Amino acid sequence: MHRKLYCKCEVSNYFKCIYNFFHHLCFCPLIFISKRVFCAIDFASQYLRFNFVNNLKKVKSMSTYVVVGLQYGDEGKGKITDVLSAKSDYVVRFQGGDNAGHTVYVGDEKFVLHLLPSGVLQCKGKCIIANGVVVNPKAFVKEINQIESKGMRTDHVFISRRAHVIMPYHILLDTYREEEQGGTQIGTTKKGIGPCYEDKIARVGIRMIDLLNPEVLREKIEKNLKTKNSLFEKYFEKPTLDVEEIFQEFIALGELLKDRIVDTELELNEAIKDGKNILFEGAQALMLDIDFGTYPFVTSSSPSTGGVCTGAGVPPTALQNLIGVAKAYTTRVGNGPFPTELDNELGENIRQIGAEFGATTGRPRRTGWLDLVSLKHACMINGINNLVITKLDVLTGIHPLKIATKYKTEDGKIIDYFTSSTTKLYDYEPQYEELDGWDEDITNARTYDELPANAKKYIEFIEEHLGINVYLVSVGPERSQNIIRKELF
Ligand code: GDP
Ligand code: IMO
Ligand code: MG
Repeated sequence: MHRKLYCKCEVSNYFKCIYNFFHHLCFCPLIFISKRVFCAIDFASQYLRFNFVNNLKKVKSMSTYVVVGLQYGDEGKGKITDVLSAKSDYVVRFQGGDNAGHTVYVGDEKFVLHLLPSGVLQCKGKCIIANGVVVNPKAFVKEINQIESKGMRTDHVFISRRAHVIMPYHILLDTYREEEQGGTQIGTTKKGIGPCYEDKIARVGIRMIDLLNPEVLREKIEKNLKTKNSLFEKYFEKPTLDVEEIFQEFIALGELLKDRIVDTELELNEAIKDGKNILFEGAQALMLDIDFGTYPFVTSSSPSTGGVCTGAGVPPTALQNLIGVAKAYTTRVGNGPFPTELDNELGENIRQIGAEFGATTGRPRRTGWLDLVSLKHACMINGINNLVITKLDVLTGIHPLKIATKYKTEDGKIIDYFTSSTTKLYDYEPQYEELDGWDEDITNARTYDELPANAKKYIEFIEEHLGINVYLVSVGPERSQNIIRKELF
């Protein structure tokens, strides 16, 4: 048996030798080659991994900030943007147009920005009017001149070539429609915002880049005026517009602005990768959002954090610090439902103390209690992770203070979410929580501890209800009148 085994071993050794011979002859080169291939693959994957990790590091170091309004506009976004822009490399407007009115006080001097980013006063880097904004070039030139006449620089302001142009016929259409509707109008700013966005979506709009190309511009004006003029003449019974006159005016504006009309999305994305501080400044607010506001009493853009992606050409993954600005109470200018409105003496007092008059149109703003039902809706849609409460000083001396946390529907149901039915909102009854007020002047407070206990309770009530920290409390219109509880930059 041993012998047999031995023999078997010998035979198997013999075959092993032959196998090894052929193996070396044939497979070694293959193994050699495949080893090299594996090495190459390994090297490539290491390289890719290195790049991937590096990119991750880059993404980690990015610092983007989005400031949006959470109510019906005029929350004080301009003031907050101005404060944050001192440390920003870029300040970017991404939607709306000169319907916005953003007020900044530097000492006693008042600046109202409509189309220019509010960062224009403090930002050492660039101010960008991105593709999602609708631009009235005449309003732009006027605003630039106003700012420069106050000794400020504007050579750092640029406009995206993709941004759509508000033409004279947009402004007329906006105005005629509002006049025609009488009492049921939206109450727009009559800046031509809606009609300009309509043309953009209908793919007949004129973009900033077209102001630099005479043939394209003339052709587009001709085409647009065919339909618009017939509407003016036949439907509104108003005078028509002249192609040549508009063409000459806008080609001249293109020439004047040509050095400011640039591509912006590439530079912004590079700046994000390089970890620059980029601040996106919203105009209007979530309750005026074309999708999530009180439609049709809304503006024609998306003033939400989501609007930044389409309005400036940056991916959602690039957005980090989502800052929602809300007043300590609520205001609304223009028509539409307003469940917590105070159409009484107290409402008038708040209007006077808070100087609640539109920064763009001068219209008195409607005033009312803080509405946490709509604020919760706005925070959810925007994904807010940092809150700013402005105008807390305006509530000084009011007893008691009320905050709506729920609505009672027309059939008696209690709900704590915002409804899509704008018409029903008129019949909803806000359900209030009462809080004690305070009488101390808080306009000089600069730390949270300096606030009266009841003012702190008011802020903490909002935080608890929404589950979001209030990182800044504004106690006056001036740039320095802030209580900053956490440095974001
Ligand atoms: P925006 O459109 O959101 O920028 O706000 P507006 O500028 O249209 O309206 C806000 C108004 O409130 C402006 O007149 C500001 O100067 C003013 N304001 C901002 N923050 C405060 C604050 O904390 N207290 C007071 N009293 N006024 C403020
Ligand atoms: P900021 O950026 C307050 C309102 C108008 C109207 C509706 C539609 O300063 O917060 P539009 O002219 O946009 O077609 O008007 O939206 N509205 C604002 N209300 N603040 C604003 O901007 C607003 N921009 C537009 O009053 O009810
Ligand atoms: Mg405003």
